[in-house]
Amino acid sequence: MKKMTLMDQLKKETRKSHNQLEKLPYFQALAEGNLGRDSYIAHLRALSVIHGVMEDQIMRANDPILGIVWNNGLCKMPLLIQDLHNLDHENVQDLPAVVDASVELTRKIRLRLQQDPMSMLGYLYVFEGSTLGGAVLKQQLSKAFGLSDNMGMSYVAQYGDDKRKHWDQFKKKMNSVQLQEDEKQRIVQAAHELFEGLMPVFEGLHPIGQQTPFYNATSLNPESGNQPISEDAEEINAALRAGKITWKKFPYYAWRYSDRGEQYTRSDSAWITTLVNYNWARVQQQIRWLGRVLSTRGMPQWMLEIHLQNMYNELIKVHPDKEKKYALLLEASADLGEMRKACFDDQALQKFSDQFDAEVGSEWSWRLKHMGALLGAAVADEKSGIDGAVSSIESWATDSRRFPDIFIAAVQKIIRDARKKAK
Ligand code: HEM
Repeated sequence: MKKMTLMDQLKKETRKSHNQLEKLPYFQALAEGNLGRDSYIAHLRALSVIHGVMEDQIMRANDPILGIVWNNGLCKMPLLIQDLHNLDHENVQDLPAVVDASVELTRKIRLRLQQDPMSMLGYLYVFEGSTLGGAVLKQQLSKAFGLSDNMGMSYVAQYGDDKRKHWDQFKKKMNSVQLQEDEKQRIVQAAHELFEGLMPVFEGLHPIGQQTPFYNATSLNPESGNQPISEDAEEINAALRAGKITWKKFPYYAWRYSDRGEQYTRSDSAWITTLVNYNWARVQQQIRWLGRVLSTRGMPQWMLEIHLQNMYNELIKVHPDKEKKYALLLEASADLGEMRKACFDDQALQKFSDQFDAEVGSEWSWRLKHMGALLGAAVADEKSGIDGAVSSIESWATDSRRFPDIFIAAVQKIIRDARKKAK
């Protein structure tokens, strides 16, 4: 008798779970056109929480067996972020049962990647397999919510008419992995774990029942886990507005960090609003910590200094009565400013900006406003003891795949001059 391949085994052993999922009220309601749009958005968010952690962890794991099947083309996060963006999900609140179930699955994913990375092939099987039902779901979604051209549906529409071709390629790769019987069993067990973990996700999506929708950090950034955020919708919206104002001032954000970065600004800003409930020492410690983290990722503390001012301005508009509390954010901004000004004050940064703009010309100075000042601010961070503050921005800004020689030369010149001038 022909030996069962891994894919045959997975199909046979998970068929029951697949049928159970398909029959859940969420999919029934979608098929009948009775599903709420917020439930679909919560579905995409739940998947982005799960895929966000899974894909990030798989890439870090760098496991040789996983590597036979995994390639970055299997990443779903860009599709999910795009769909959420196109569905203007910002003001849609989260469903507690769905958040708990998705975060619980991320806990299992981290554990499994630590203990048995190879078995994650079971997770890839379930998610790649689920693309096969995508065509059916896309039809139902476009009918239910009047969506078209994949707008808000790029996740279910992935691979378009080539779903089978991609599936066959995936099957071939999976079956090419040389595995012992117990290894196959561990992969099947992982597939079961995901199917079982997805049940409470879909059960929580519809009917919503007694759940009280709320803002969770994952509503703002699927990758933020259970970070505390304000429970006041007005405060959250004020924080999100401040984020938009800060991003508008620094086009560097969108250029470098795009949608994923925007999500972090959203969840970090909503988290910062919770800090005003603590004393000054705690606020100072937390903001200095965030400042260092962001600076080593290419965002000089000057950007946070400005953002905190924008947050204060937007928050006092919604709760002028809480001005005393919000003033803690102004104080934190001034605290970062003091560290910076010990090296470069506003005039000095403006000079670096003008110098850079003169070097690169109007096109580049328009596209990446304040670039010279950002480089000066990075040197100020370096001077105040943050390792990597300059290299993390220099490496990006001198990448010849991204920028012309004139730009790269200007970046290196400003950094050299700033280091010479740094007090
Ligand atoms: C109403 C919702 C769904 C529909 C209509 C649907 C439909 C389908 C279809 C038509 C296939 C191809 C079957 C075949 O070629 O033998 C398939 C395969 C599959 N689906 Fe679904 N699906 C749905 C939901 C899901 C969900 C939510 C998941 C998991 C997240 C999932 C996971 C899979 C997997 C793993 C396979 C591959 C089975 C194999 O090994 O061939 N499906 N689905």
